[in-house]
Amino acid sequence: MNSLLVKKILPISFSYLLLIAGAILADYLLHRAGFAWIGRYLGIVGAALIMLSFIYSLRKRKIIQTGSPKFLLGLHEKLTWSGAMMVLVHSGIHFNAVLPWLAAAAMMLVVASGHVGKFLLKAAREDLRRKTETLAGEGLSSAEVEKQLFWDSLTVRLMNQWRMVHVPMVMVFVTLAILHILSILFFWAWK
Ligand code: HEM
Ligand code: HEM
Repeated sequence: MNSLLVKKILPISFSYLLLIAGAILADYLLHRAGFAWIGRYLGIVGAALIMLSFIYSLRKRKIIQTGSPKFLLGLHEKLTWSGAMMVLVHSGIHFNAVLPWLAAAAMMLVVASGHVGKFLLKAAREDLRRKTETLAGEGLSSAEVEKQLFWDSLTVRLMNQWRMVHVPMVMVFVTLAILHILSILFFWAWK
């Protein structure tokens, strides 16, 4: 349990906290340097990076055929992480409207959930590796094999249950983000 905590849960929590701390620091530095206006444009860059990260989904669903899925999942994690940081800097520490903040909150929930998914996937992979090693060994009783299979099915089931939470959350986030962007474009058009 201790090694699970040190090896997996701590780095994942650290990654999430680093994202928030990094955004606060970047926002502070931009303000001090007199470049706070850059933050506004980071919304576009951040949203573009997040959109680009969906290349993993395209590969997973075989809409595109090139690229290693493992590499593209890593890319998905890095692009969404940096995109979310830019969107946070873009949000800044001011409160004028509810809708964009709902979008930002949904984004941070999706990012948190992404971190949980990364953890579950690692745990599932390690279970599978352990199982293969065990089966390669000798003298395994059928009860032990069954126990292994039970844990495997549990991790796969957990991953599926996680997807049932993650995907609707992504949809809520994308809808709120689109509404925010549309409202910005709408008011720009009428100014
Ligand atoms: C993931 C996508 C995005 C999220 C979560 C997001 C979130 C936010 C938040 C929280 C604010 C601050 C609102 C406030 O001061 O109360 C904001 C402001 C703003 N955003 Fe975004 N944003 C996103 C993408 C974009 C994009 C792509 C654009 C450009 C097309 C954009 C344009 C703006 C503008 C112009 C403001 C200033 C509005 C004002 O001060 O009234 N945002 N956004
Ligand atoms: C704005 C933030 C994010 C969005 C919009 C997002 C979106 C998605 C979507 C739509 C999927 C499902 C892919 C599919 O089945 O086609 C997914 C899966 C996944 N995401 Fe994210 N994600 C975000 C952030 C993150 C972060 C920060 C991480 C990890 C640090 C992460 C890790 C994962 C993992 C491990 C999967 C599961 C892969 C699979 O089931 O095949 N995501 N994400």
